[in-house]
Amino acid sequence: MNVVLKPAKHLRGEVRLPGDKSITHRAMMISALAEGTSEIVGSSSAADPMSTLDCLRALGVERHTTRESLLIRGRGLRKLLKPQHVLDAGNSGTTIRLLTGILAGQAFSSMITGDDALRKRPMKRVIDPLMQMGARIEATESQTPPLKISPANRLHGIDYVLPVPSAQVKSAILLAGLHAEGTTRVTEPVATRDHTERMLGLTVKVSDGTRFVEVNGGQSFEARKFNVPGDISAATFFIVAGCLIQNSELHIAGVGLNPTRTAILGILLEMGAKMQIEKIESSDPEPIGNITVRSSPLRNVRIDPDLIPSLIDEIPALAVAGAIARGRFEVRGASELRVKESDRVKSISQNLKKLGVQAEEYEDGIAFEGENELIPSTPLDSYGDHRIAMAMGVASLVAAKEVEVRSAECVDISFPGFWDVLKSLTA
Ligand code: S3P
Repeated sequence: MNVVLKPAKHLRGEVRLPGDKSITHRAMMISALAEGTSEIVGSSSAADPMSTLDCLRALGVERHTTRESLLIRGRGLRKLLKPQHVLDAGNSGTTIRLLTGILAGQAFSSMITGDDALRKRPMKRVIDPLMQMGARIEATESQTPPLKISPANRLHGIDYVLPVPSAQVKSAILLAGLHAEGTTRVTEPVATRDHTERMLGLTVKVSDGTRFVEVNGGQSFEARKFNVPGDISAATFFIVAGCLIQNSELHIAGVGLNPTRTAILGILLEMGAKMQIEKIESSDPEPIGNITVRSSPLRNVRIDPDLIPSLIDEIPALAVAGAIARGRFEVRGASELRVKESDRVKSISQNLKKLGVQAEEYEDGIAFEGENELIPSTPLDSYGDHRIAMAMGVASLVAAKEVEVRSAECVDISFPGFWDVLKSLTA
């Protein structure tokens, strides 16, 4: 599917967000391991979380949907059932990496794979620590999916320092740690999203300036209710569009404001975004708030490489803001962008070049001069990557003339209905 967008005169209205994708995946998995039936309110029904739900169903987990919530009947630790077929994580890195941590602790063998893009993504980062815990995992020669997970005698706790800042790796180890003997400790030199820790009630400790978290294996836990906030990564596309398009005012209610995810808000405020953030009291364990954004002249600012893990998913949208803002835009220390749903350094720079921005690629980032008039020469391409499609949707609204975004259906991975929401706000 291709989408054609005209330059927008303004953006006005209320944005309804999908539930946070990262939190939805974790709520589903943690519910599956709990004793009893958990209720998940506000979960995302985008394609990625549905991949998690389908895998869990194949592992014997029953679920039921009501109008308000998703009910998941947990099987308890180490009590999932052997799947009758290869598990399909679709496009979802969170599904395959976190589930591999869970599958490593089960008493049966299983296979998990995904779509063409996922089968190119690195899995060594989860295979290494899980094998140190005693897991038995085979992958392709290049350490990509499909993954074959054979039953281990028993997993044991490890003390692991993350070599790449990745919440997916940290979470896979913690979920395996629930199934292991003893204590599992994960140290992260740079902070990454902490949803798993919050949901499991684990305390993040700091020693000599580094963060670590520990989980004790073998403790069963009760089912509970999860409230999933709106997805801040999805909100970012609208916040950026609201800033860049003249005469705009957007209201975004119920956005997740977890401090390991809000670096993008700090940067946009520093860039001059006219944005009010109103925190809602007593929203535990995930802070929530409402955001109002108005058209704002932006200027580029220095982006601290240590902040990159907390805004990694927001960089495609931030780059579009950077192309319009005054001054030079530069993101470095972001080599992880190369191994996302697409090589995002390439997919951002290639698309910006089609809009006339002289983007320079680095192994670990991207840079260009700001204050561009975006003049489309050829259609833009999503590269099959939902966040690239949405970022290019925003760029199209600020372009000098109509432009087409190709393979635009991939927004369904995280935000079904994105194009309708975007168009309705321009009316
Ligand atoms: C995610 C973590 C990030 C992010 C991804 C979702 C998660 O990946 O890019 O979209 O839910 O844990 P990494 O942890 O690999 O950086």
